[in-house]
Amino acid sequence: MTERVRTIVVTGGCGFVGSALIRKLIRRTGHIVINVDSLTYAASAEAVEECSGSPRYHFVKTDIANESRIRDVFRSFNPDGVINLAAESHVDRSIDEPAGFMHTNVMGTYVLLDVARWYLSLRSKDQKARFRFHHVSTDEVYGSLSNDHETFSEETAYRPRSPYAASKAAADHLVQAWYETYDLPVVLTNCSNNYGPWQFPEKLIPLTIIRALKEEPLLIYGSGRHTRDWLFVDDHADAILVAFLQGRNGEKYNVGGGAQFRNVEVVERVCSALDEIRPLGNQRSYRSLIRFVPDRPGHDYRYAMNCRKITEELGWRPTNSFEAGLRTTIEWYVQNEAWWRSILQFKYDGRRLGLTVSA
Ligand code: NAD
Ligand code: DAU
Repeated sequence: MTERVRTIVVTGGCGFVGSALIRKLIRRTGHIVINVDSLTYAASAEAVEECSGSPRYHFVKTDIANESRIRDVFRSFNPDGVINLAAESHVDRSIDEPAGFMHTNVMGTYVLLDVARWYLSLRSKDQKARFRFHHVSTDEVYGSLSNDHETFSEETAYRPRSPYAASKAAADHLVQAWYETYDLPVVLTNCSNNYGPWQFPEKLIPLTIIRALKEEPLLIYGSGRHTRDWLFVDDHADAILVAFLQGRNGEKYNVGGGAQFRNVEVVERVCSALDEIRPLGNQRSYRSLIRFVPDRPGHDYRYAMNCRKITEELGWRPTNSFEAGLRTTIEWYVQNEAWWRSILQFKYDGRRLGLTVSA
């Protein structure tokens, strides 16, 4: 199953996770990739620049909720599968402006599913058997854990608590419904917090690194005891690929790093690494920049994934330790200052991120 060359539509391929997946597909496999992305504020065309010379890479700029354009993509490229990563992905933004999350995460997923259903209705049984709709989702659909020993399994009931999580949960239900009702060959992966190069500087780890490099306050919401399960982005890309190629139809697989830390510990680890990589001088530590600020509304306390299913069935497990992955990530942001400075200057109002405006 893994050897045949496939034509794969990857949506959201200019985003953080999608670009890591596409770089892997082009570098390490023979598959053909159609990157479908509307290039929102979160997109980085530079993250897939290395692929642009490959005859196996194509880019289509469109909104996934634009049905006629998505039909054109299917007609033109005749894909063997879709991996859906296009999304509005930031919880804080979903609290401020939920509409875009409903549009892309819910309606966009609906359009992709229904176009895939239409497309397969015109294909042979063999082509249908080869096709796969892979939906990339999140641990946030399961809600919040309060007990330090609990984990989310694939059987955990959905209890989304933010507009982002609710939109992702709605999409997951649509994917399952298209499998049950229309026999669309689907697979889902639900992943924990990712970090790594090219992550848009609105998320905790890149934002903390950038705030520190700018010697600005490192803002921690609430008590800082909230806990996340961290996974290096390349490990997520591997998990997506293995589930897309070898997962069972109609199944979902949890993906996580097994690296659970309180937010304050994550920020302190960034500070310690930067104290070595780029010392502040005068014996000062970056820790002196830490500030506690009012909590995020409805802030989920803890996420932790049980990944036994994907490990036992598909042999996937994370290969990057949090320590090594964080070091790689910090060094990348130190070396790629021009990229994030240009985002802060031209693309995104740094004030939203608690940063000064002059970059
Ligand atoms: P991101 O915000 O970095 O990138 C999203 C990409 O989708 C961008 O390139 C953007 O231009 C594109 N996009 C947005 N709306 C679109 C639309 N209507 N049509 C076409 N393209 C559109 O997101 P990410 O962090 O790379 O996350 C990718 C997927 O993985 C999301 O579905 C997210 O829910 C899921 N996920 C992310 C994480 C994480 O920690 N980053 C963890 C678990 C799951
Ligand atoms: O769990 C998977 C999810 O992880 C993905 O589905 C989302 O797309 C992704 O954005 C991420 O969601 P989080 O809300 O967990 O990520 P974020 O980086 O925004 O926040 C991580 C934790 O850090 C969270 O508890 C809030 C806290 N935080 C965040 C920021 C930006 C702070 O304390 N200070 C900050 O400045």
